[in-house]
Amino acid sequence: MIRLHHVCKVFESGPMRLPALSDISFSVEKGEFVVLSGTSGAGKTTLLRLLYADEQATEGEIEVAGFDVRALRRSDVPRLRRSLGIVFQDAKLLSGRTVFENIAFVLRVLGTPRREITPKAFQALKAVGLSSKAQAYPAQLSQGEAQRAALARAIVKSPALLLADEPTGNLDEAMAGEILDLIKDIGSRGTTVLLATHQARLATQLKRRTLKLGGGVLLKDEG
Ligand SMILES: Nc1ncnc2c1ncn2[C@@H]1O[C@H](COP(=O)(O)OP(=O)(O)O)[C@@H](O)[C@H]1O
Ligand SMILES: [Mg+2]
Repeated sequence: MIRLHHVCKVFESGPMRLPALSDISFSVEKGEFVVLSGTSGAGKTTLLRLLYADEQATEGEIEVAGFDVRALRRSDVPRLRRSLGIVFQDAKLLSGRTVFENIAFVLRVLGTPRREITPKAFQALKAVGLSSKAQAYPAQLSQGEAQRAALARAIVKSPALLLADEPTGNLDEAMAGEILDLIKDIGSRGTTVLLATHQARLATQLKRRTLKLGGGVLLKDEG
């Protein structure tokens, strides 16, 4: 599902060269749940951004969901992203739309037949326990609920791969636990998951294979 082969990423800023990732190689098989750990600045977000073609690698090979990411033309990037669900620390919901509309919007963009949109959106909301907030606006949600909505929006397109970048970073411990349980549920239903977190304790609690980054280097691959 994911394969990186000797990947490097250097950010250029004027005359400065800032190496963010050095010689990263690993594979994640279909259906695996993998944690990407490492302290702040380790390179987790950069690595995820390379996977969904938000940044270009400097060197190496990247394969994601059957796409040769480095060879993709700009016009092919939406095709790659269609097969991915992505969640961030902050839910990034459209504030002028209800929870239901935020999710239905994704389906409309994907060209889902109109009659399928409502049942699919409600199914996704049910999967994250948020059916009762379908008509709420983002400002009316708690942070945990907003993150549930973001998860529903990510899974409504039945992605092959879910990428989560610090999805519990804004949440207290109880809410973080609920979101992680939901992500585990999503993983156990067959979606491949790559979850980045700087919270070492949380990475340990998950009891999943863990790729540990430090200073842009892959330090450990275990579990
Ligand atoms: N757009 C960018 N331009 C320059 N440097 C960047 C950029 N994005 C990230 N970096 C640098 O790359 C390193 C890794 O950052 P990041 O991937 O955000 O780490 P993490 O997500 O693990 O906290 C850091 O040193 C950061 O400052
Ligand atoms: Mg980060």
